[in-house]
Amino acid sequence: MALKNTKKPIKIKHLCAVLLTCLGGLCAAQVNANSTPEKVSAGVRQACHAVSAETCTLAHNLGRGINFGNMLEAPREGDWGIRLDPAYINVVAEKFRTARVPVRWTNHAAPTADAKIDEFFATRVDKALDALLAKNMYVIVNTHHYSQLFGDKLHPNEYAVDPAVVEVRLVNIWRQLAQRYKGRSKNLVFELLNEPHGTLTSDAWNSLLSKLISAVREVDTTRTLIVGPTYWNHPKDLDKLQLPADPNLIVSIHSYDPFEFTHQGASWTPQFPKGVVCCSTKQQQTLASSIEAAVKWNKAKGYPLHLGEFGSLDSADMASRVAYTRMARDIFEKHGIGWTYWEFGAGFGAYDRIQLKWIEPLRRALLD
Ligand code: GLC
Repeated sequence: MALKNTKKPIKIKHLCAVLLTCLGGLCAAQVNANSTPEKVSAGVRQACHAVSAETCTLAHNLGRGINFGNMLEAPREGDWGIRLDPAYINVVAEKFRTARVPVRWTNHAAPTADAKIDEFFATRVDKALDALLAKNMYVIVNTHHYSQLFGDKLHPNEYAVDPAVVEVRLVNIWRQLAQRYKGRSKNLVFELLNEPHGTLTSDAWNSLLSKLISAVREVDTTRTLIVGPTYWNHPKDLDKLQLPADPNLIVSIHSYDPFEFTHQGASWTPQFPKGVVCCSTKQQQTLASSIEAAVKWNKAKGYPLHLGEFGSLDSADMASRVAYTRMARDIFEKHGIGWTYWEFGAGFGAYDRIQLKWIEPLRRALLD
């Protein structure tokens, strides 16, 4: 499989309730019947012997979700053609139980070791997270894209820092975020780093992730944290992941197999030309076997899994995208794995921002 290059396209092709109390991650009710955890897991429970009952329940309750992609993780919001319009929050809350909010904190923080987060930007993120939490959603906030940490070429408008402070900045960012969100609902989950890869080898990542977890735990002892393996969170690297004993961890995997289908025509993976359809038996097996390997890992290790990203680019034909989306969702749900689709309204998007409506065939493939 070709390495995934996370260099982002600058052009985005698509230019285009009740407030309920959740105790210990157990929600009394749900906004949308499509996303009930019962329906998602079809009664299948993942192994949870390494974590607390609350975190196990939370992992299952995440159910069906979607990513607010290309918005707050662009170098500057709007750089990738989409901003987090508050109207999207209602649109998503009506259909999904979980929102994953990727954020490029590292580009909105001091370039020095302390990485003091820019207050104006943080307030912007607070508003989005709080609006989602007020809809009784589960919300996953992460640190997304930090090109220097991976040895990647910087994105336009992403600034470089002294190599000596790259890692410590991330630790200090999480220390600040833990403090900032300490009082928020348990439905807010921290994902410590999106898709470690490149020069951040498994060994380097294992050592960094234990520092990130410690930084959060100094401030917030119980909030559920999500961490994933190297190789862009692909299940194939799960065995390399070393986790400190902590009962409130969920492990994230991403699934873009068959990659030559999902990423065809992507400007950041030019090796995959357009015209690939989906889904042959072989393609299905590629996807299913990597998830089965992850399930095997879950059974052995006892950390519940969350599928943080899957999706296909709009350069693929719609019939294939629909077939892929339904196939993928069925495989995850067969194993009781909650998911967040990549993504809402940009190149992989399931929502048409021009016509202000869901792309129905994709919405149905996800939820019906
Ligand atoms: C990863 C990247 C994101 C990209 C997606 C699909 O999440 O961080 O930028 O769009 O995968 O390739």
